[in-house]
Amino acid sequence: MNLFAPADLTPLNTLGLRSHAQSLLRIDSVAQLEALALGRAFMDGPVVVLGGGSNIVAPQEVHARVLQMAIHGRERVGQTADHWLVRAGAGEVWHDFVRWTLEQGLPGLENLSLIPGTVGAAPIQNIGAYGLELASRFHSLEAVHLDGGETRTFTAAECRFGYRDSVFKHADGVRWVIVSVTFALPRRWQAVKGYADVARELEGIAEPTPLQVSDAVVAIRQHKLPDPSRIGNAGSFFKNPVVSATQHAALASAHPGLPAYPQADGTVKLAAGWLIEQAGWKGRRLGPVGMYERQALVLVNHGGATSQDVRALADAVQADVAQRFGVRLEPEPVFL
Ligand code: EPU
Repeated sequence: MNLFAPADLTPLNTLGLRSHAQSLLRIDSVAQLEALALGRAFMDGPVVVLGGGSNIVAPQEVHARVLQMAIHGRERVGQTADHWLVRAGAGEVWHDFVRWTLEQGLPGLENLSLIPGTVGAAPIQNIGAYGLELASRFHSLEAVHLDGGETRTFTAAECRFGYRDSVFKHADGVRWVIVSVTFALPRRWQAVKGYADVARELEGIAEPTPLQVSDAVVAIRQHKLPDPSRIGNAGSFFKNPVVSATQHAALASAHPGLPAYPQADGTVKLAAGWLIEQAGWKGRRLGPVGMYERQALVLVNHGGATSQDVRALADAVQADVAQRFGVRLEPEPVFL
């Protein structure tokens, strides 16, 4: 039976915010979702699609219909001259999928090890870490439209990937629900080890194996980032802001030591964690929430927080960073 039922969302969001959903439904198959959408089940109101709950700020009462994506499966589906094609269901746990690819001898995703969440959520914000973005290992994805149940394939270009961005975060994409993702993994693999933390962790290993790169990334993340099963968090809470070359020049002369990453289009990406730390928020709390002591970019729930607590801290951090640097920080997770 395809029945929506009330559910406690608290264990389903990695920030661990106290939250309740009036109607939640577990989606186990593409056919189930297509049938519901075809039957116009979602036409009369807002819908929230939940992956691993690692990128949402959930209010105490969620009035929208919540779809909990649990479509599983992972397989090699083909090859091109340069790539192995590997497909996974949207409900697969991201890190387990990454490790499975490595066990199958299909490397390429190892720099994205240990990122919380699911395969289906990964393209939405084009997850990226340690010198690699999902977009560079992406082949295509399948999605079902909530209004009518049309199922279609999106190519990389159609996903309009950007830094922590894709079409699925914008008005023309939000009603598409990703049901599976196909990755293009390089047949001639080379380690991506340019990122300073990774290079340091792999020091002394001239030619690391994919598993060694994965283990290095896991070690770095475990050291810097809180484990959501122990301390509630949603990973980076703000995006790294991108400013013009002119604004960067002014900031750099006023603030020696400002980390900066020049982009291909002439703009400059700044490190939000550095700005937040300089503004005095690293390790500082406001009520039950705070900015993590080892990585100021991560907002943590020390226990019992609600979305209002998160909003209050996010506002305070944004205000202080804006006042000090004239830079506006934009939250990365989605406020439901
Ligand atoms: N920094 C500080 N203080 C801090 C945190 C960072 O000074 O508290 C400085 C660091 O010293 C470094 C720079 O900021 O110079 C960048 O720090 P880091 O390498 O830790 O990376 P990040 O820019 O803070 C981004 C991603 C992470 C990803 C890492 C590694 C965003 C919003 N975040 O963080 O992604 O793991 O790079 O590639 O782009 C996530 O999105 O949830 C996430 C964890």
